Amino acid sequence: MSDFLNDAVFQNIRDYIYSESGIHFSESNRAILESRLKERLRTLDTETPATYLNLLKKDKDETRYFLDAITTNLTRFFRNQAHYDTFINYVIPDMIQRKKPTGNHRIRIWSAGCSTGEEPYTNAMVLSEYLPRGWDIEVIASDLSLKSLMKAKEGFYPAARVNGIPKNYFTKYLEPKDDGFRVKESIRNLVKFDYHNLKFDSGRKDLDIVFCRNVLIYFDGAAQKNVIEHFWNAMAAYSYLFIGHSESLFGMDTQFEFIKTDWTCIYRKQVG
Ligand SMILES: C[S@@+](CC[C@H](N)C(=O)[O-])C[C@H]1O[C@@H](n2cnc3c(N)ncnc32)[C@H](O)[C@@H]1O
Repeated sequence: MSDFLNDAVFQNIRDYIYSESGIHFSESNRAILESRLKERLRTLDTETPATYLNLLKKDKDETRYFLDAITTNLTRFFRNQAHYDTFINYVIPDMIQRKKPTGNHRIRIWSAGCSTGEEPYTNAMVLSEYLPRGWDIEVIASDLSLKSLMKAKEGFYPAARVNGIPKNYFTKYLEPKDDGFRVKESIRNLVKFDYHNLKFDSGRKDLDIVFCRNVLIYFDGAAQKNVIEHFWNAMAAYSYLFIGHSESLFGMDTQFEFIKTDWTCIYRKQVG
């Protein structure tokens, strides 16, 4: 037990974080929580974690700030090649085939837990490449980290962060800026960034594709189920859900259909 954060206060803070966001702090990542707490207490000149918890409970802005501070925002462009192989060779062709005869030539895709924007921009680039000319693309991207969303909207990345982008996309969709690169306006304009806490229902409807990768790992089973139910309600018939490669809906009571493609496993909402 640490002198700074005793077990009882750790439990209370972690329960509060969980009730506000679904994020579950296990004993093994207690040290991360401690270090974020220490930093914040120093800045605010607050004496103890218990006093800080009282402040959090009274102050929604501080809660938002603290939730942002404890998130892990690691991401990259074209993360997980197998997902993009499936997206390009399975999901997009299926969407085109189903939608073409209906005259509804629009794809709505949501990147839930989009961090600094690499995932939704990748998705916008891929859809721009593979959808027939004239189709509408709407990319929604959300996170509860305001810091990440600000960077995402800017669309600027240092050179080291763009090296996973295949050359053909790179030359077409990025331009040099200062000492890095910026996603071109044609792609930036396709993406709408939004603050959203996945604990709550988004009110969105008729989404064709949802990417929620490397987010569920931070939630416990009950919070995961809650998020997955929200996705179900937000998705159209014959829509697809991508979750992280280390995440699974196995054992969860859900109507999503498990699909094993040649590249990876994804989920489908089959019914309307
Ligand atoms: C590791 S990043 C994953 C980014 C991207 N999806 C990827 O796979 O590269 C996880 C993101 O989930 C966000 N997140 C965690 N809990 C959340 C919640 N309750 N609501 C919304 N976003 C959340 C974090 O802020 C973080 O940016």
